[in-house]
Amino acid sequence: MGNMKHIVVTGGAGFIGSHTVAALQQEGFAVTVLDNFSNSDPSVIGRIGQITGQCPALAEIDLRDRDAVFSFFREAGADAVIHFAGFKAVGESCLHPLDYFHNNIGGTVNLLAAMDAAGCKRIVFSSSATVYGDKNPVPFVETMPTGAANPYGRTKRVIEEMLSDMTASDPAWSAAALRYFNPVGAHPSGLIGENPNGIPDNLVPYIAKVACGELEALRVFGNDYDTPDGTCLRDYIHVCDLAKGHICAMRYLAEHTGFETVNLGTGRSASVLEVLHAYETACGRKLPYVIAPRRPGDIPRMQADVRKAKRLLHWSAESDLVTMCRDSWHFTIMQKERRESHAVHRHQGVSEG
Ligand code: WQD
Repeated sequence: MGNMKHIVVTGGAGFIGSHTVAALQQEGFAVTVLDNFSNSDPSVIGRIGQITGQCPALAEIDLRDRDAVFSFFREAGADAVIHFAGFKAVGESCLHPLDYFHNNIGGTVNLLAAMDAAGCKRIVFSSSATVYGDKNPVPFVETMPTGAANPYGRTKRVIEEMLSDMTASDPAWSAAALRYFNPVGAHPSGLIGENPNGIPDNLVPYIAKVACGELEALRVFGNDYDTPDGTCLRDYIHVCDLAKGHICAMRYLAEHTGFETVNLGTGRSASVLEVLHAYETACGRKLPYVIAPRRPGDIPRMQADVRKAKRLLHWSAESDLVTMCRDSWHFTIMQKERRESHAVHRHQGVSEG
């Protein structure tokens, strides 16, 4: 890792990005966050500083702004990039596919071109298990055919192909596409976590809002699937385990060139009701739910084959489901207290810090 000191993290103010930035800083890397805050909050930068003792450098840039991206990389002296920036809502991608192609694919073209021009030729890419589509048997293995079922997943698949082509065209390039399963939880400090705007689409942040009384009850999208309790099974992984996986992938790129895809999951799956009950254990009370119709696009079961991550990256997930829920709950309570404290200060006319 000697020649990898300065890491640029695109989307570094987001959910997984912020946890990875904190982990990088705690490993001694210098980090610059490149973010346009389209789906994240600038206050996260200061809270990363509270965790690690130093705020990461910040470049407020939109990857669709080609000139800004080139200008940044000319001066940055980046040794590697971890690329999280991108739109990631499956349903939204079906309504606005062109926005997803422009932002996710177009932004990545600008990023790779600017990196190439600046001689920065190592990238870890935030891909997704959604690229496996709904035809593959479980558990998913990296060698299986990919076939995304929505525009969001297709952008991930196209970017994986772009990275494969870049590394094939120039042996100086090395790239790893990490296929996340279901990232959940929060940093144990409670300072950073998953903080979606509005009503969450995803299961755990929705349960968190039920647990803190902001939402009335969880709607379980179908309990008539061919699974043990009839609800869908997913491979939930703690966001801090995921962050560590990125550092292991970077270490791998420091010693290897070429392109690899790697699953980041636990290799175990849990049902919707099992997650709900784990959250009840974490928050110490029963949580209301109702059975609702199936959600279009859901598949009964997703689970990672985790052998390649262990063999290639010497990484495997460590946290169990209750720990994921406990850290999510701790963050939820602290986030609520921060919001209430800001509201009191605003009311008292105290200038916000
Ligand atoms: C999990 C399960 C729902 C909400 C998505 C993206 C994927 C990745 C992770 C980016 C499903 C059920 C959910 C609710 C419910 N994102 N559910 N009630 O769909 O597996 O994956 O997020 O990379 O690309 O597709 O995650 O949390 O939305 O759903 O019953 O209010 O929980 O039906 O079975 P999903 P999820």
